[in-house]
Amino acid sequence: MSTAGPGRDVPEAQIAVHWREEEYYQPPASFIGQANAADPAILKRFGEERFPECFREYADLLSWDTYWHTTLDTSHPPFWKWFAGGRLNACYNCVDRHLAANRNKAAFLWVPEPEEEETRALTYQELYAQVNEFAALLRDFCALKAGDRVTFHLPMVPELPVCMLACARLGVIHSEVFGGFSGTACGDRIADSGSRILITMDGYHRGGKLSDHKAKADEALQAAEKLGQPVDKVLVWRRYPDRYLSHTPMAEGRDFFVDELLPRYRGHRIAPVSMPAEAPLFLMYSSGTTGRPKGAQHSTGGYLSYVAGTAKYYLDIHPEDTYWCAADIGWITGHSYIVYGPLTLGTTSVLYEGAPTHPDAGRCWRIAERLGVNIFHTAPTTIRMLRKLGPDEPLKYDHHFKHMTTVGEPIEPEVWRWYHKEVGKGEAVIDDTWWMTETGGFLGATLPALQPMKPGSCGPGVLGIYPVIYDDEGNVVEPGSSRAGNVCIRNPWPGIMQTIWGQPERYVELYYARYCRDTHSTNWRDWPFLCGDGAVQGEDGYLRILGRIDDVINVAGHRLGTKEIESACLTAEEVAEAAAVPVIDELRGRVVEMYVALKPGLEPSSELEDKVARAIEHEIGKIARPKKVWIVPDMPKTRSGKIMRRVIAGISNFADVGDISTLANPEVVDSIRHQVQSRKLESGEVPRELTEAEREEIKTFGGTA
Ligand code: PRX
Repeated sequence: MSTAGPGRDVPEAQIAVHWREEEYYQPPASFIGQANAADPAILKRFGEERFPECFREYADLLSWDTYWHTTLDTSHPPFWKWFAGGRLNACYNCVDRHLAANRNKAAFLWVPEPEEEETRALTYQELYAQVNEFAALLRDFCALKAGDRVTFHLPMVPELPVCMLACARLGVIHSEVFGGFSGTACGDRIADSGSRILITMDGYHRGGKLSDHKAKADEALQAAEKLGQPVDKVLVWRRYPDRYLSHTPMAEGRDFFVDELLPRYRGHRIAPVSMPAEAPLFLMYSSGTTGRPKGAQHSTGGYLSYVAGTAKYYLDIHPEDTYWCAADIGWITGHSYIVYGPLTLGTTSVLYEGAPTHPDAGRCWRIAERLGVNIFHTAPTTIRMLRKLGPDEPLKYDHHFKHMTTVGEPIEPEVWRWYHKEVGKGEAVIDDTWWMTETGGFLGATLPALQPMKPGSCGPGVLGIYPVIYDDEGNVVEPGSSRAGNVCIRNPWPGIMQTIWGQPERYVELYYARYCRDTHSTNWRDWPFLCGDGAVQGEDGYLRILGRIDDVINVAGHRLGTKEIESACLTAEEVAEAAAVPVIDELRGRVVEMYVALKPGLEPSSELEDKVARAIEHEIGKIARPKKVWIVPDMPKTRSGKIMRRVIAGISNFADVGDISTLANPEVVDSIRHQVQSRKLESGEVPRELTEAEREEIKTFGGTA
């Protein structure tokens, strides 16, 4: 079957690809002059013939107590051991070693959401003192020791990195659950990790509201208890030390205010525990899980080396920069590129408490101007939101970025150009960084001074990462063939997860079973890592990520990448955000329904609906023409800003929308349901009973975050 796109034949099993090639943008000379990686020799140093020794360069950015003897031990694939024999402490690398030269330099600049509250600078010395005192509390009050697990359910406050680093100092494995997750989700993760201590906060600001966060701790404990994991102690930080923001009682003998305990440990210093390179540093539960949660286990030596190296060369962090990654530390991005990467490099990093759009769409640019931020890292969804709410806001502020990065999903070329021109004022390099929770750090991106940018493509594999695209039969899909397939990484790298916590078979099954050539082989070449994304690779080696393999809509046997359809919608200049969902259809299997939100000030109309449909037809072809375009005031979103496709898919299919308690805006669900379903019924559509499999497909569409 061929597509109606720009003249290519695409076999049915393939995800159709209709992207247009975009032009290159060159980095400005001012950037190249100061870049950490400006000499092309670096590409040779990380050439495949130098693997795995090339990664010494990353490990040498760290301070080791004992140098390693084996760079890569492959004796038990795919459980790779990096820098075997080495010992180090992650907290020492992030904090202590910067004291001699930079004791009173800011490690973090914390910006509370209410603008009347002052920004707080946490110097390396202050961080050192707080981390030591809190580590003393964990050791002496909670009886925690190396190898134990602790769960945090903390928002974006400086106490979060303090907790992480205190654990790292003791060799205790931390597991931060994103603050926006429900108490039950937190409880599942407490139970899975076997934590008997939970660290939380009473409340925090988000989008103009003060939340009662401690209430979730009580739900979490109940959920964990049900799963057979009792929690002994709950440590509660207070957002304001003289107030308690929660309505829940503090359980006697179980719940403790941290500010009341800490004075006992004033001035205590704890020697950093020297940990083996392969000791687990933390667990990060992946967002979209059904069934048992999936805790990606990350190592100390390999992980820390990898985030230090990639933060240096790809984020181009220098110690003198003021860097702001506007992600949440509750995600892997925050662990790698707010806490561990930037701190190993001794830079100053901004932490922001609230929603990037609160109180208005100028908030980010005001912070950047005020603090002199010169590197800005965020997600396309935030960029889309800011473009929608305040397209001209960046012009009003005198901020200057040398570098801007994006992460988390493909960025549509239209949005990319706004980011480049308006936010970056044409002065900044943009780096689209592609990776995932499991990979610890970047997989695909451009070396900012050496490889030109191409909107919509993340770039080639990063240093020491050799990607390959396989079709379903395991044949290599050649770069430049315009065919999509499953992107894999041919080699191990230091940042890769060690296993799924407590589920080694699932780790092998999910990431290696599909393309492993010989399960008895100890040669890494036989163990390609399945990333789970569909991708297409240009002749230049640049990867275009089409989204998770399961995020495709199969229309009449034709697999369409949702991202591609959404990107096509954004070519209509009125459209700010778009989400494609499948609707079960007797004839065509699935048809596409489109949800779009318009830029501010624009009114929905049938002309606009038609324009969006035509844009899709024009960019992709008739096959993808949506059955219906719904113009909605706002999309249901998670607190991290991901559009919850399963919720709108549920609405379009008259199916259950599932749990919406973790949405940032649960109130939109009812109004969208009313708008969509009443129109459907009026037009004579008869809701049909879905089969079990269909219900499951809709319920998990686009991930189950
Ligand atoms: O589909 C890819 C998408 O996000 C997935 C990983 O999500 P998570 O584990 O939550 O980690 C997000 C932060 C690293 C990937 O499988 N993704 C991530 N970055 C990009 C991306 N898709 C396209 N372009 C990116 N730059």
